[in-house]
Amino acid sequence: MKVLLIGSGGREHAIALKIKESPLCDELVCAPGNPGMAMLGKCFGVDVSSPKEIAELAKKENADFTIIGPEIPLVAGVADEFKKQGLQIFGPTKAAAMLEGSKAFSKEFMKKHNIPTAAYETFTDLQKAKDYLKEHPAPIVVKASGLAAGKGAVVCMSNEEAQSAVEEMLGEKAVFGESGKTVVIEEFMEGEEASIFAVCDGKDYIFLAPAQDHKRVFDDDKGPNTGGMGAYAPAPLVNDEMLKRIKKEIVDPTLKGIEYTGILFIGIMATKSGPKVVEYNCRLGDPETQAILGVYSGDLLELFYKAAQGKIKEIPETKPQGYAAVVVMASEGYPGKYKSAVPITGIEEAEKKGATILHAGTRDNPLQTAGGRVLCVVGKGKTLKAALDIAYSGVKEIKFEGAHWRKDIGKKGLNASQSIQKT
Ligand code: AMP
Ligand code: GLY
Repeated sequence: MKVLLIGSGGREHAIALKIKESPLCDELVCAPGNPGMAMLGKCFGVDVSSPKEIAELAKKENADFTIIGPEIPLVAGVADEFKKQGLQIFGPTKAAAMLEGSKAFSKEFMKKHNIPTAAYETFTDLQKAKDYLKEHPAPIVVKASGLAAGKGAVVCMSNEEAQSAVEEMLGEKAVFGESGKTVVIEEFMEGEEASIFAVCDGKDYIFLAPAQDHKRVFDDDKGPNTGGMGAYAPAPLVNDEMLKRIKKEIVDPTLKGIEYTGILFIGIMATKSGPKVVEYNCRLGDPETQAILGVYSGDLLELFYKAAQGKIKEIPETKPQGYAAVVVMASEGYPGKYKSAVPITGIEEAEKKGATILHAGTRDNPLQTAGGRVLCVVGKGKTLKAALDIAYSGVKEIKFEGAHWRKDIGKKGLNASQSIQKT
């Protein structure tokens, strides 16, 4: 079949590589794509926030099946538009994508369905939010309700931080625009995080490997939140026992509460009292995908296609193969203002070390930076340590001025696997 893949980040480059491996794929086309994806299929310009434009492109290109990478088109209703036009797509409807599109909605949903998550209140009025914070001291978390590219959650360790976070969102500055005009203030949860991915067909689902992201920009989880600075899979934190609880207490009641076809990505906090939901997303994670597809041994195109048809039961469950780790190389200044058009060198040398290089924010001719997260360097191995060693040996070869990356990707996973080995 001919596949249209929507998106332009490291996640979509990883998906594109996997789709090209599938015997079911005759041709891949991408929109908007990136220089890495352009090596795998022709790329077309498209406004990803326009469901109509995406459907037009799918028709013009005679695509048999469309896969959506990012949340923006899903929240805008691309799956509904495709269904209306009788086109095949993998992704949740606009109503289902609201689990990610509105934190006010998802928190209400969790309350209604008794799904464990942080206690919260929703605000649109600055003064009311400020008064609430006086009664609920730090640590506390302030979140823009709408989409904010992973940067809309502010974990406030002081009351001053919390006051200024609500001021920035609900005050005149409105740093997240419409997305921040409704704010969720929630209880701070303590614990380690994991990313869980359920591929859902409307009735049944299967899990991909659990992963762990690294949200903060600096080592040891310091600095502001980013879209994600690195990941690894499978995450030993999510052992069989925890996965059972996640299934029973979170995934099953979620899918009972909403009709869902697509990827349900659940950010989990492993608290002392058990796993709780940090957030829902309606798509694969970035950079988690770059790790989880590295350990997925099945046919990804077949998996998505069968899920879209409501036939996921026909897909055999596969066990993750070894480990994969991804280190994100970011532009100077990211997640704040960053420079662009900085020349990049060393990709071939990094590949010679065994790493896979995925493009996230790059431009071609000559290769240069064009985004905050620039490249994802992926290593695979029999152990997490081997995967990380390959990824970091690749990172060493890649140069662009001002590049920064975390040096401690996978550290928690290594500690966890060592303690498992010892017991
Ligand atoms: P979100 O955009 O909701 O995924 O939040 C981004 C990140 O902020 C999460 O991955 C956590 O690291 C952190 N975070 C969000 N909510 C909470 C919470 N209630 N307690 C502690 N940390 C949180
Ligand atoms: N890495 C987290 C996300 O994709 O939202």
